[in-house]
Amino acid sequence: QQFFAVIGDPIAHSMSPAMHNELFQLNELDAYYLPLRIKSEDLRVAVAGLRAIGIAGFNVTVPHKEAIMPLLDEIDPLAKAIGAVNTVVNQAGKLVGYNTDGTGYIAGLKEDLQDFNQKKMLIIGAGGAARGIYYALAEAGVEEIDICNRTLDKARKLAMECPYPVKSTLLTIQEAEQLLAQYDCIIQTTSIGMSPHIGEKPLSLKKLNQHAFVSDIIYNPHETAVLHEAKQRGVNVQNGLNMFVYQGALAFEKWTGILPDSERMKKNVL
Ligand code: ATR
Repeated sequence: QQFFAVIGDPIAHSMSPAMHNELFQLNELDAYYLPLRIKSEDLRVAVAGLRAIGIAGFNVTVPHKEAIMPLLDEIDPLAKAIGAVNTVVNQAGKLVGYNTDGTGYIAGLKEDLQDFNQKKMLIIGAGGAARGIYYALAEAGVEEIDICNRTLDKARKLAMECPYPVKSTLLTIQEAEQLLAQYDCIIQTTSIGMSPHIGEKPLSLKKLNQHAFVSDIIYNPHETAVLHEAKQRGVNVQNGLNMFVYQGALAFEKWTGILPDSERMKKNVL
């Protein structure tokens, strides 16, 4: 039997164990996926323990996505650029780190938005999630991705450190509100809209373009205030369920070589 895990703190809320165990069963693989709560000060020892039991692969979540990197043997270039790892594969005893958050976001976006790489995009937020998405979009060839964030310095750092060519204007929240009509695709990555900020919006959508597409990486609640308003304005929207399912599907593919059926995964997560 092969073992897989997700390490984080907290971890009890994670839906990854149910998702991956279901996929192992569906694909008749003799494998099991465990949630492991690991405190930051125990991370080094925990990774040594995972090596010792011959773990086949694991996911990494908050707060270990950056701290895990020096403990691995190899890091994929996109994960290195992002500076965070969410998926580790044991390749013949070598622990190799990947980041499937941004590529998972893109795979999910493509379902609902045609020609995504020709769109003018605005990312709201400049934290870890924004970084993963921005770098993956830039690597995938999107030419123009602007960023707005409460703290402009963080947006500047994110854009400056990106190794892939992309044009970016950095905006305050107020500037983004005024220029909103320019954007074909708006990606909400802040924690506003999630508990304890349910019902709040990171910016006003008054000037939203009728033809825009709005996505929010939050999936709990299912419809954030931003998505609710965008829908009321007649615009197509997507919540974070696609990103969650596809980051998992891409991790599963790295571990097993099988790309699972995402429609079925979505039904099981709901
Ligand atoms: P994650 O890994 O989920 O992206 P993060 O790295 O802590 O989390 O980033 C959180 C993002 O939400 C940041 O863009 C943050 O803005 P700042 O860079 O200005 O801190 C944004 N955010 C969180 N709480 C916020 C609030 N109350 N108002 C505005 N932005 C907020």
